[in-house]
Amino acid sequence: MKKDLLKLLDLSGEEILHILDVADQMKYNQKHGLPHEYLKGKTLAMIFEKNSTRTRVSFETGMFQLGGHAIFLSGKESQIGRGEPVEDTARVLSRYCDGIMIRTFAQEEVEALARHASIPVINGLTDFCHPCQVLADLMTIRERMAKLEGLKLCFIGDGNNMANSLIVGGLKCGMEVSVACPEGYDPDPKVLEFAGSDPAFKFSLVRTPREAAVDADVIVTDVWASMGQEEEKAQRERAFAGYQVNEELMALAHPECMVQHCLPAHRGEEITAQVFEDHAQEIFDEAENRLHAQKAVMYLLMAGEEIG
Ligand code: CP
Ligand code: NVA
Repeated sequence: MKKDLLKLLDLSGEEILHILDVADQMKYNQKHGLPHEYLKGKTLAMIFEKNSTRTRVSFETGMFQLGGHAIFLSGKESQIGRGEPVEDTARVLSRYCDGIMIRTFAQEEVEALARHASIPVINGLTDFCHPCQVLADLMTIRERMAKLEGLKLCFIGDGNNMANSLIVGGLKCGMEVSVACPEGYDPDPKVLEFAGSDPAFKFSLVRTPREAAVDADVIVTDVWASMGQEEEKAQRERAFAGYQVNEELMALAHPECMVQHCLPAHRGEEITAQVFEDHAQEIFDEAENRLHAQKAVMYLLMAGEEIG
């Protein structure tokens, strides 16, 4: 049966770690000029109903490096934007392509696409989650810290798609996860239910960034207004004032604390320019690792063979 990557809630901790192992191998192969054209002759359709720089370029480049081809379909310019039902799009693309990547608003649209497609579907961001980004984040953290288990991951800001995926991914990989969000901007109830479902999970949701940041090994933040929330910008700026990753907050964390930001970043809002530049190496490693992590995902879902 075909498999999809719709959300990290669907994967076990072992499956996530396996993707990270394959991602490390993909990175090694690429850096050492080793052949890894596992998807020769295969095509990925990429549906974008929201803007993107990293996701588009990393998926398209990743497919090329794997020997395949990627097709960009913007919501607006394809028949999707004119209302063609997702179940028809799924069945049509399944006749031409070998995989579909989709970035859209509702998680339900991605789930419906996967139900009606006979080829793997990969979630390239919804309002609910951003699994590919968090795979890259976990890869970057493990690369630098040599482990995930036992590390404290702290998220500051909006309980958005990034917060949701970080909570699930972090806990599944044995990390302690602390989240600081203002009231009214909590992570999704399904994610909070998951975080409370296992007594072994170390999870806390607090109202002040200071409480969450103490002894953190990794601090992660994201924009205050996500794509689709542009009209709430002013209201959100008021709600999130104080939820900034700055030097004062970093001083509470572990001295070797990493910073991750999925980008694009708004300096002076969720992160100061100083903290951003101090941790630019880690943040751009994170951006690079989108390529390697997604190559691993595409290989595992679309090649149907073990890596050599
Ligand atoms: N981080 C991320 O998904 O970036 P893009 O929106 O540029 O794809
Ligand atoms: N939370 C952000 C992430 C962008 C990569 C958004 O959804 O716009």
